Amino acid sequence: MDEKQITDWLREENEQKLETLWRLADETRITHVGNQVHLRGLIEVSNICARRCGYCGISAGNRQIQRYRMTEEEIMDCVQRAVGFGYGTVVMQAGEDYGITRQWMTNIIRRIKAETSLAVTLSLGERSDEDLIAWREAGANRYLIRFETSNRELYDRIHPPLGDKSSDRFAILENLKKLGYEVGSGVMIGIPGQTYEDLARDILAFRELDLDMIGVGPFIPHPETPLGQTLPCAPSDEQVPNTEQMTYKVIALTRLVCPEANIPSTTALASLNKADGRELGLMRGANIVMPNLTPPQYRVMYEIYPNKACINETSEACASCLSMRILNIGRTLGSGQGGRLKRSSR
Ligand code: 5AD
Ligand code: FES
Repeated sequence: MDEKQITDWLREENEQKLETLWRLADETRITHVGNQVHLRGLIEVSNICARRCGYCGISAGNRQIQRYRMTEEEIMDCVQRAVGFGYGTVVMQAGEDYGITRQWMTNIIRRIKAETSLAVTLSLGERSDEDLIAWREAGANRYLIRFETSNRELYDRIHPPLGDKSSDRFAILENLKKLGYEVGSGVMIGIPGQTYEDLARDILAFRELDLDMIGVGPFIPHPETPLGQTLPCAPSDEQVPNTEQMTYKVIALTRLVCPEANIPSTTALASLNKADGRELGLMRGANIVMPNLTPPQYRVMYEIYPNKACINETSEACASCLSMRILNIGRTLGSGQGGRLKRSSR
């Protein structure tokens, strides 16, 4: 698929034609990654962040929230729950929190690898080479960092540099691959100023980067952030809407362009349609879900966008909710770590 074809699908509004897109994506998903839905337990380790991303509710600029960092014992307790629920992976996510030191995280990764057979995924922001090398050596398997948009000008507008450190997430992704991580990335859909052309290029960049995991979700304005206030947008016929429908289109097209990738049906999508957003994502190309393992008292403080799904649930509730949803749509629960199946072009 080329940029023009992707853009045409993104602009398509005819329900019947879209049914064709959903069917093609679902068939491609069955052929390449099968019927299993893999479960990645998400632990939101810390909401402390050094950055000021214009969209993010836990950015350093938000003075309205209480900050926390979980203890090693609290994290290990979540890890044991993940084992109990039968998950194959734990994802440790946090703001860019330099109180999460190289050594502290190294110990935790070592403990998880010694005490369980879980895959370990990290999502800790833009960390130094030394940190990434140490964590990989300690046994971390995967790293997630979204590039958010492939439009450099738009990227810079919503990501103020940290000191003199301006970021190049494409370079970071290449580096992570070189260090031997399975690499995940993705974008937000409907960022103010994001055009259809931008989004089509994002999807082509997924292929270019040969990503193992691709997470996409709608941009949800957070009132305590610069992008939560009204901002100049792209001309209205060019601006991508941050809707549920647009998210399904991007999931489906991503599946067609990257048939073997692991694609989650994300919490941001579920937040727009709590009734059956997760299921529709899974039926239109996705093959992963990320049940939340964060203890309830911290969950409420990890509000990167308002109205986040699962913010008041327990890890037990999310575990049974998700397995029920998966089985109800005729899919099976993944077994094992559920890493990338094939390595075609690397
Ligand atoms: N709306 C939607 N997604 C968001 N993220 C951060 N803030 C928001 C928001 N307001 C996404 C970013 C980030 C991921 C962890 O969460 O894409 O990479
Ligand atoms: Fe958390 Fe459904 S996944 S309540």
